[in-house]
Amino acid sequence: MSVKRTFLVRLPEFVSNRSPVFIYAFQAFLVTCGLVSGWLLRFDFSMPYRRVLLTSGLLLIVLRLIVLRFFKLDHGWWHFASVSDVLTILKAVGVGSAVFFVINRYALGATGFPRSIYFLEAVLTASFLAGMRLASRVLAESVRRNSPRSKRVIVVGAGFAAQMVLRELARPESGYVAVGCVDDDTSKLRIRIHGIPVLGAVHDLRNLVSLILAEEILIAIPSATGKQMKRITEECQKTKLPFKTVPTLRDIIRGEASVNQFREVRLEDLLGREPVQMDLEAVSRHVKGSVIAVTGAAGSIGSELCRQILAHNPARLVCIDQNETGMFYLQRELGQRCGEIETVCCVGDIGDPDRMKRCLSDHKVEYVFHTAAYKHVPLMEENVAEVIRNNVFGLYGLIDIAEEAGCRGFVLISSDKAVNPTSVMGTSKRIGELMLASRPANGMRCVSVRFGNVLGSSGSVVPVFQEQLRRGGPLLITHPEIRRFFMTTQEAVSLVLQAFTIGHHGDILVLEMGTSMNILDMARTLIRLSGKSEESIPIQITGLREGEKLNEELFYPHEKVSPTSCDKIKRTDGPLKDWPGLCRQLAELRATLYVDGASPIRAKIKEMVPEYSWQSSIPVGSTVGQSGLVVPTSEYPRPHEETQKEIPASGLHRTVGHG
Ligand SMILES: NC(=O)c1ccc[n+]([C@@H]2O[C@H](COP(=O)([O-])OP(=O)(O)OC[C@H]3O[C@@H](n4cnc5c(N)ncnc54)[C@H](O)[C@@H]3O)[C@@H](O)[C@H]2O)c1
Repeated sequence: MSVKRTFLVRLPEFVSNRSPVFIYAFQAFLVTCGLVSGWLLRFDFSMPYRRVLLTSGLLLIVLRLIVLRFFKLDHGWWHFASVSDVLTILKAVGVGSAVFFVINRYALGATGFPRSIYFLEAVLTASFLAGMRLASRVLAESVRRNSPRSKRVIVVGAGFAAQMVLRELARPESGYVAVGCVDDDTSKLRIRIHGIPVLGAVHDLRNLVSLILAEEILIAIPSATGKQMKRITEECQKTKLPFKTVPTLRDIIRGEASVNQFREVRLEDLLGREPVQMDLEAVSRHVKGSVIAVTGAAGSIGSELCRQILAHNPARLVCIDQNETGMFYLQRELGQRCGEIETVCCVGDIGDPDRMKRCLSDHKVEYVFHTAAYKHVPLMEENVAEVIRNNVFGLYGLIDIAEEAGCRGFVLISSDKAVNPTSVMGTSKRIGELMLASRPANGMRCVSVRFGNVLGSSGSVVPVFQEQLRRGGPLLITHPEIRRFFMTTQEAVSLVLQAFTIGHHGDILVLEMGTSMNILDMARTLIRLSGKSEESIPIQITGLREGEKLNEELFYPHEKVSPTSCDKIKRTDGPLKDWPGLCRQLAELRATLYVDGASPIRAKIKEMVPEYSWQSSIPVGSTVGQSGLVVPTSEYPRPHEETQKEIPASGLHRTVGHG
């Protein structure tokens, strides 16, 4: 590299690292250049009136430096210069020239100073000051573009977020250099955003990355729906390059992330990006100034409920859970969020009536969100009495205590496993729904909210797969055709809060879960998102576990489904139980807890929920593989064929477990 080029290339770095004295001296030099060049132009490249030039020139330099400082143009970060800096320079030079003219001509009486020089010098000095900064920025960018340390990235999207991303990438410390954008909007083709060209559409990615030698892809579409993200990531995967995304619009709006916090694409991005239309005002009206208790507060759904409730300014939030360590972390987190709002953390068992009375009465709780429960289906098949004790009798006791404590509302978090249950856990949830639906109100509005799986909740399929991936596989799946409904925790909890505002006493409200997902497809997608191939991470089919269904359902066939004011929440109308009869059955069920073995309990819950069916083990059909078999993933349909198969949320026929 020539000495001249080395100097130019190092100039931006050199300037930005200098002391203020250097910056003043350099700007004084540029002003001098402006003045001398103006003089030379005016006098045909000769230098007459040198005495005037010297005395007025000194005044001009001092005035210009003062004005540049006043306009905050005395820093050395020239390689960040933008159009707004150029405008500031123009203003500073204009003001400086006006002041110089008045002082030089009228205060000092320097009438020999040629009038045209006032104008010429101003134009030339402004050009030098702005030109040096812009040249510095262009050089800095070209150096980074050619630097082996900066990764060459192609940006997906050419909208508002992409503009912000490209501005962030232009910073020298970003470690990236943008080499192009792609966008499906053909009107944007070949335009430039911050100097970066839009080169084609998303489906052109594979060809473009090799042409422009891109090393990474950044997806800059925070408003992309799950479906759009899925397509974009499929195109990204074809390039075999690593790719990242900006956070979702929701996270950006909530202030939980900023657009420049690039991260790996997660499964939630492909499933749960559709924005939920929330009536936030209605939620705030109910929550603001109220005292709210959340049971199971340390759990996945309970803790998110606490976060979202706090955002609506309750008078007090009472968190209840028996998990001491979970409560420790929750208290720490909520401490940072709650501000002035009083947050009480009660460690205790919902089955302990004295403790619950104190938690609800002492803190004057008005509304209870009940999420505390045992939820792991196969595990609880081995702990039948415990799940009934916790999920049924814990709830039974708690509703009475809440009513005695003067609560005005009680919300039960139910599950799709309550519909035509094949497990004791699911049946316990159904009994809970029946209790709330048939119980007289007595001034307390009781509402159940039923929904399917929550992505990423503790012990759910995604964290389990991620753990298996970290260990190098295999990913264990119980059945290749098993499907589940999924929602993100934030989405489910937002809808629970919305359901709480619209629910009438006895309602069982069901959250719209969209299309159910094939778990095998999810496993394959996770493998690909982790950058591994389906050949290197096997998928093992282990056979359905006890109590597990192939397909979950959201509604009973006999339930009449009607819309509510929120399109994602449906109201069900099923036959009610008579409350005294149900209480009698509950007393009989309680008696079975003290008898040895699970059979009396199963028999009693079958009587209470006739739809409950149970089989001790469910063989895997011969057409889909054997238990424990390591199945090459290629033997099953490709993800795009499978995931597009829609299973309606209602009217499904059960495939397994009819008793
Ligand atoms: N996670 C899902 O996918 C999902 C989907 C639909 C419905 N649900 C329902 O939502 C509820 C919460 O689910 P989650 O995923 O947050 O579960 P989780 O296991 O993360 O949280 C449950 C919390 O309840 C607490 N708890 C359990 N028994 C208790 C007791 N006797 N006293 C005090 N605290 C007790 C636990 O310590 C735990 O912190 C469950 O009722 C579950 O059936 C969950």
